[in-house]
Amino acid sequence: MSRARVLITGGAGFIGSHVGRALLEGGYRVRALDMLTPQVHPERLRPDYLDCDIELMIGDVRDPHAVRRALIDVDSVVHLAARVGVGQSMYEVGDYVSVNSLGTAVLLQALLDHPVQRLVVASSMSIYGEGSYVERNGRPATARARARDQLAARAWEPRGEHDQELTPVPTPETKPPSLNSIYALNKFEQERSALLFGEAYGIPTVALRFFNVYGPHQALSNPYTGVLAIFAARLLNDKPPLVFEDGEQRRDFVCVKDVAALCRSVLERSGLAGEVINVGSGTSVTVNEIARRLASILGKEAIEPELTGEYRVGDIRHCFADITRAMQTLAFEPSVTLEAGITELAEWLEGQVADDRIDQARRELSSRGLTV
Ligand code: UD1
Repeated sequence: MSRARVLITGGAGFIGSHVGRALLEGGYRVRALDMLTPQVHPERLRPDYLDCDIELMIGDVRDPHAVRRALIDVDSVVHLAARVGVGQSMYEVGDYVSVNSLGTAVLLQALLDHPVQRLVVASSMSIYGEGSYVERNGRPATARARARDQLAARAWEPRGEHDQELTPVPTPETKPPSLNSIYALNKFEQERSALLFGEAYGIPTVALRFFNVYGPHQALSNPYTGVLAIFAARLLNDKPPLVFEDGEQRRDFVCVKDVAALCRSVLERSGLAGEVINVGSGTSVTVNEIARRLASILGKEAIEPELTGEYRVGDIRHCFADITRAMQTLAFEPSVTLEAGITELAEWLEGQVADDRIDQARRELSSRGLTV
């Protein structure tokens, strides 16, 4: 029997390259469709980190001809192609809607003529807005999105409907979405359209809600990459990490290798059609802790993080994953500790030109009133 072929849209990117490798290791043939977007691939060349057994087709997911070609002889699709900066989505609105929403629509349209056995779509924790919270007595409560005047008063913690104090708890997939950025809207639309298309045409489809994915191959040239890579690039350039708010906001950092292994197991399990699944580590850490741990692993303890006291418009305070569903349905068990994952990221970064463009991104956001 010939080996199954998987198409990964955005397959030359950070997450896609690891998914590709995990699939090759599982005996699959892998094709990547990727436009080598300049913000991620400034040289517009096949990235060195991309496994040479991955067939790379350079093309735009919005181009129906490119997508049709890429789907030839394909058994399953992992749809990762997207613009991914939350802040940037607020001023490059047309481009985000075009790549993320139209790109997904073009793919679905093409799948009508090339049905596949499984479709996996990358969604995001950003669709939750604020994560889940409880009141002091443990009763679940909805956190109000933080208003500008609250943030201007540097009162960082979100409060409940009756202004009560809240404590963050792990966020399950059942939390209703709260869409606070163009990016979050795009991701929710991608997720919903793929799931309803899959249901209508009998293509088993699964949406993965990624939390803060980190690891080797993160695009350092992209200032909208995640905070871990941004801080690492700062430290490697002997500059202090710039911490927004008071640094006590919590996130769930999950190593890209665990994410790739999970993607592969989604392709290999039946019976998950229509599911949405959180992909996180199930543990949370503050931004301050991240800055401290990175500095210590990189031997840069002398560089103190700089607390800017600023906030990014659209940022949420706390969100970390309840991964019960992934554990139960996929036997998912995160295997890379934060310590080991950061060490691996740091080793990879040391061999890179850590091109630190965060100052440029900060100026761009602040000139548009998107950091305050
Ligand atoms: C966001 C999205 C997530 C998306 C990810 C990557 C939300 C809720 N989540 O995550 O879906 O996958 O971007 O695009 O929108 N920070 C600093 N200094 C910096 C950079 C960031 O202090 O230089 C802080 C931020 O204010 C935030 C935290 O670090 O509190 C994490 O930021 P980031 O890595 O950009 O990811 P999220 O906003 O959590």
